[in-house]
Amino acid sequence: TYVITEPCIGTKDQSCVEVCPVDCIYDGGEHFMINPEECIDCGACEPECPVEAIYPEDEVPEDMQQYVTKAQEFFGLT
Ligand code: SF4
Ligand code: F3S
Repeated sequence: TYVITEPCIGTKDQSCVEVCPVDCIYDGGEHFMINPEECIDCGACEPECPVEAIYPEDEVPEDMQQYVTKAQEFFGLT
C-alpha cells in the first residue's frame, strides 16, 4: 500500500484522489488516508501530491511511521 503522511495536514490538495484508479483515498479528517486493503500499489498518486506527503509503505520515513498505523486503525485493520 501507499501511505499519506503529515504534509497533507493543512493542505488536503486532493490531486491524489483524482488520479487514483480504484478510489481508495478517503477524507480522514485532518488529512486524507489510503485504504491499505483497496490500494493496488499503482503509484499514480505519489507524484501528484504537491507537498510530497505520499510514500510507498516500505519507504515511509522513520518519523512518519505513525501514519502507517493511523491508516490501519482508521480502516479497522488492526
Ligand atoms: Fe490509489 Fe494507486 Fe495511490 Fe494506491 S498507489 S492509493 S491505488 S493511486
Ligand atoms: Fe493530501 Fe497530497 Fe492528496 S496534500 S489530499 S496527499 S494530493
